[in-house]
Amino acid sequence: MKGLLFVFGRTPDLSFFELCALSPASKRIHERVAYLPGESSPEKARQWIARLGGTVKIGELLDEGKLPDPETLSSVVSGSAGYDAFGLSWYGDDAHYPRDLVRKCKEILAGEGRHVRYLLPHDGSVLSSVAIAKQHALDFLLIPSDAGVVFGRTLEVQPFEAWSARDYGRPSADPKSGMLPPKVARMIVNIALGPNPQGKTLLDPFCGMGTILTEAYSLGADVWGGDTSDQAVSASEQNLAYIAGRTGAVRRPWHLFRIDATHISERIPPRSIDAVVTEPYMGPTSFGGRTGAPVENDAGRIKNIVKGLEKLYIGCLRDWQTVVKSGGTVLIALPEYVLGAHTISVKKVIDKCEMLGYTVVTGPIEYSRPQAVVRRKFYIVRRH
Ligand SMILES: C[S@@+](CC[C@H](N)C(=O)[O-])C[C@H]1O[C@@H](n2cnc3c(N)ncnc32)[C@H](O)[C@@H]1O
Repeated sequence: MKGLLFVFGRTPDLSFFELCALSPASKRIHERVAYLPGESSPEKARQWIARLGGTVKIGELLDEGKLPDPETLSSVVSGSAGYDAFGLSWYGDDAHYPRDLVRKCKEILAGEGRHVRYLLPHDGSVLSSVAIAKQHALDFLLIPSDAGVVFGRTLEVQPFEAWSARDYGRPSADPKSGMLPPKVARMIVNIALGPNPQGKTLLDPFCGMGTILTEAYSLGADVWGGDTSDQAVSASEQNLAYIAGRTGAVRRPWHLFRIDATHISERIPPRSIDAVVTEPYMGPTSFGGRTGAPVENDAGRIKNIVKGLEKLYIGCLRDWQTVVKSGGTVLIALPEYVLGAHTISVKKVIDKCEMLGYTVVTGPIEYSRPQAVVRRKFYIVRRH
């Protein structure tokens, strides 16, 4: 039994969608873990980790069944080179972290004259990517499954420093402006463009700082973007130039316009876009609650906001319908407001999709953090 294990970060549902879009043979074996049968070489793991936005660790499957014994662990540590420490990530209940297994493994190694440090998780029962990379640790993966326990070891962790540089190192970054995290942008671009993005055309009509466009561009797609704000268009321009300069490949053109999203078809050839991927304008982000969250008094205001947003999004879908290829994808984040026990969403947009020339394929897929003032959910629709 050979294969790779993919451990997801903070948005496991979205991360699994991303993996399936690139490799439909993947199977989810745990809320945070998927298994892909086949080749499990370090080289394969390196290629995958460089491509995915939502996977934080990639491991090699070693066995499935009973919890491994300390002798098994110690023989893997003994047979592995290039590690200064070892540790264990347990994907079950924190209370059942098999601390004894790690300790006994260390004792066996010490008995063989190998004094290897072991790491324990700081928080919960999982070693972080940062700890694994910084301490050069061999990380065992133990995942409770239907057949007992899946046992593996980490081959690659997400290059957190490179992702952070992508986020904060770009010339135009304004964390307060509601920028999408680049990892989330990478996930949705992968979902929309699939395994072969090179040469495909992607449009973001609410491009903001160009986070989605830069991720698509760095995967080899041709990108088109629009925004009503001059500032946003020039930020996208700078961020695309920055990414283009870093890829080292021949610079390909991109297309940016200052234009309303409901009129972008005036600037784009008909039926030329493979995928629209966008996080549109979502209205005000602060309400009457102490943390800016909506309260009962905001109900009337929110109903009006939702009415306005529905009109905007429906106008967009009507316009984009002329530029998206038949069978092309629209992946859009839509807002949702939580008011006590009620949720107010832009329901009309989804209800009207068929009439506007689209079929709803998937959604909603949760991505915002639970405490967000305006929740976001992704929907995927396909052009008839
Ligand atoms: C949520 S932000 C997009 C953020 C973007 N995903 C990023 O990571 O930077 C929405 C953007 O939509 C723009 N916008 C607002 N109304 C618009 C409209 N009617 N047409 C086009 N752009 C609009 C705003 O200027 C803003 O840059």
